[in-house]
Amino acid sequence: MADLNLLAIVGSLRTGSVNAATARAAASTAPDGVAVTVYDVSDVPLYNGDEEDAGPPAPVVELHAAVGAHDGVILFSPEYNSSFPAVTKNVIDWLSRPPTTWDGVPFTLVATSPGGRAGLGVREHFSAIMPRQPVRLFETYGIGQYGDKIDNGELTDAQTVAGLAAFVERFAGFCRSDVG
Ligand SMILES: Cc1cc2nc3c(=O)[nH]c(=O)nc-3n(C[C@H](O)[C@H](O)[C@H](O)COP(=O)(O)O)c2cc1C
Repeated sequence: MADLNLLAIVGSLRTGSVNAATARAAASTAPDGVAVTVYDVSDVPLYNGDEEDAGPPAPVVELHAAVGAHDGVILFSPEYNSSFPAVTKNVIDWLSRPPTTWDGVPFTLVATSPGGRAGLGVREHFSAIMPRQPVRLFETYGIGQYGDKIDNGELTDAQTVAGLAAFVERFAGFCRSDVG
């Protein structure tokens, strides 16, 4: 039975997404007492101020509710052109709008990328913009050169999975603490 519930949001809609594989690996290796639930944002529409004014679409209302109901959020995001993919940024943009359920919620981003920089571009941009939001920000984490680490669509490299699990454990500790 988990006493800490984390929400995993994947910033890729691709069936074979490696970032989704990383999210699954984080969920299956979560420490005792921690549950990581992978949340599907494929039906969250592109941000549109007219839709917001009319009352946000149901998938956006559900996204806000899911964030507010969890003890912490991990965005599992690819890096596109050294920055955010639209899917990840769209989630951030909707969450930055009322009812802003992420107030005080611990937040981080894990990037899985093919190069050696391990998504440093998107992680730097995340760290640059998120201090302006009311979340409790934690350091980011990157997995690079994923080509060697994925087998049959799953993150299988033992050292990489162990590193990810250790990061989730540290983030869980941050979520439980009052610091930040
Ligand atoms: C439009 C586009 C831009 C990309 N730019 C980068 C980049 O700047 N850095 C990088 O490491 N990978 C980049 N990639 C490669 C992605 O990291 C790779 O496609 C990855 O598998 C996407 O994540 P996913 O498997 O979770 O969908 C890019 C891919 C696309 C489609």
